[in-house]
Amino acid sequence: MSMLPTKSLLSLLSIAVSLGVSVTATPPSSLELFTRMVPPKGRTMADIDRTRITAMMGGDKKSSFPVVDATVTYTANVGVGNPPTTYQLLIDTGSSNTWVGAGKPYHQTSTSKSTGQNVAVSYGSGNFSGREFIDEVTLSPELVIKSQSIGVANFSEGFEGVDGILGVGPTDLTNHTINNSSLLVPTVTDNLYKQGSIPIDLVSIAFAPTTVENDNTTVGLMTFGGTDSTRFIGDIEYVPITQTPVSSHFWGLNQSATYGSTTLFNNKAGIVDTGTTLVLLATEYFNAYANLTGGKMNDATGLLEINKSQYQNLQTLNFQIGNTVYPLSQNAQIWPRALNNLIGGQDGSIFLIVSDLGEAPGTGFDFVDGFAFLQRFYSVFDTTNKQIGLAFTPDTFALSN
Ligand SMILES: *[C@@H]1O[C@H](CO)[C@@H](O)[C@H](O)[C@H]1NC(C)=O
Ligand SMILES: *[C@@H]1O[C@H](CO)[C@@H](O)[C@H](O)[C@H]1NC(C)=O
Ligand SMILES: *[C@@H]1O[C@H](CO)[C@@H](O)[C@H](O)[C@H]1NC(C)=O
Ligand SMILES: *[C@@H]1O[C@H](CO)[C@@H](O)[C@H](O)[C@H]1NC(C)=O
Ligand SMILES: *[C@@H]1O[C@H](CO)[C@@H](O)[C@H](O)[C@H]1NC(C)=O
Ligand SMILES: *[C@@H]1O[C@H](CO)[C@@H](O)[C@H](O)[C@H]1NC(C)=O
Ligand SMILES: *[C@@H]1O[C@H](CO)[C@@H](O)[C@H](O)[C@H]1NC(C)=O
Ligand SMILES: *[C@@H]1O[C@H](CO)[C@@H](O)[C@H](O)[C@H]1NC(C)=O
Ligand SMILES: *[C@@H]1O[C@H](CO)[C@@H](O)[C@H](O)[C@H]1NC(C)=O
Repeated sequence: MSMLPTKSLLSLLSIAVSLGVSVTATPPSSLELFTRMVPPKGRTMADIDRTRITAMMGGDKKSSFPVVDATVTYTANVGVGNPPTTYQLLIDTGSSNTWVGAGKPYHQTSTSKSTGQNVAVSYGSGNFSGREFIDEVTLSPELVIKSQSIGVANFSEGFEGVDGILGVGPTDLTNHTINNSSLLVPTVTDNLYKQGSIPIDLVSIAFAPTTVENDNTTVGLMTFGGTDSTRFIGDIEYVPITQTPVSSHFWGLNQSATYGSTTLFNNKAGIVDTGTTLVLLATEYFNAYANLTGGKMNDATGLLEINKSQYQNLQTLNFQIGNTVYPLSQNAQIWPRALNNLIGGQDGSIFLIVSDLGEAPGTGFDFVDGFAFLQRFYSVFDTTNKQIGLAFTPDTFALSN
């Protein structure tokens, strides 16, 4: 099927309503996620996203890693050592080194062993360098990695309010990070799989839309080695990781996009990324979207602004990935109005979350499905089968924004 029929959309909606309030206990192989919101000081949120992507588009070259100081990021509490010290780490599907020491200093225990190797990763507008250690890493009581290679920062910049990163991108992104060599560092997911703790090298992520600033409540769940059926609706559809560079180095896939009945682009490569706040489209596609919605650039936020009648007239923005259409509803296309102040916007204004990627189409990196997309769809990052899965969630059509 190339389009999801209206009937099945409606039935999904009613399932969504009935599931909407269910609260389930954290399954054993899962890690709870929290949001961290940092006002985009001196720059707009859109600029920060573009800086990250510019760095990523540097591709497989040395030091081409994303920015991590996005306005909205996700964190998890991760234990290192035995007894463990808890660190608050950013969850990043766009980089693959796990490291601590940006905030809380590394506390060595009997499980901590220096490898004698230097580690350095540059993320575009932030970076860290230090020493690589082997240590015990505890994600949950059931998810303990006995020998995880982690970075310990001696110097870091751009990681305000967090202690480091839990990198769950493709392992190849660790190339050139250790001793400036081609030694690769297995990710936490790789090691959980290798030591037999999980049946498949895969991580799944559920995010709920969030409209409250830093209230420390759980807004998401990362499940290792499986999926959590209480967090999605219907089937997960998988597509292969795209073969098109540069997207192929990340969690990249091919998709098409339509706004209402207008095609914005057909079968282009881009990425799914937890570290990007917005949905970004290559410049011509973005311009077409801006024109169709009537949005006008607001300089304070760097986002398109629309008025109430334009909001009422917003059409669905459909992303077709594989055989499924993933719709961004009217409400899913706007920034949470309760968070306008965070990004320099006025109360009562309406801003669109689709932004300019800052590059012409045709680079093999034509879009980014960031946080604004991932809070509406369940995502699965499957290293074993080199594929990405997506599914509808109880929040796909939520009127949260
Ligand atoms: C990495 O570099 C350090 C310091 O230069 C050196 O002592 C160590 O032997 C190197 N390790 C590897 C695996 O090359
Ligand atoms: C890391 O950040 C520091 C401070 O901004 C900067 O001087 C240095 O050049 C950066 N290193 C890399 C490799 O980007
Ligand atoms: C840590 O930083 C200090 C001071 O910049 C430097 O002398 C030292 O070599 C660094 N150590 C490591 C392990 O990177
Ligand atoms: C890493 O190695 C490359 C050449 O392989 C060299 O140009 C670069 O300066 C090295 N970087 C560091 C930080 O040592
Ligand atoms: C790592 O980088 C080197 C180039 O320095 C390249 O030859 C090698 O294929 C890369 N490895 C991976 C796994 O990408
Ligand atoms: C959230 O947690 C942080 C650190 O644990 C704390 O400083 C902050 O006050 C908490 N915020 C709320 C709203 O509870
Ligand atoms: C994915 O998109 C790129 C354009 O970005 C295209 O060249 C390539 O053929 C597409 N791949 C598939 C499998 O359709
Ligand atoms: C859309 O573009 C056309 C011509 O390219 C222009 O005439 C029209 O005013 C634009 N509409 C909006 C809402 O920007
Ligand atoms: C919204 O903006 C459009 C285009 O500028 C304008 O025609 C319309 O009158 C505005 N509506 C309201 C309610 O302000």
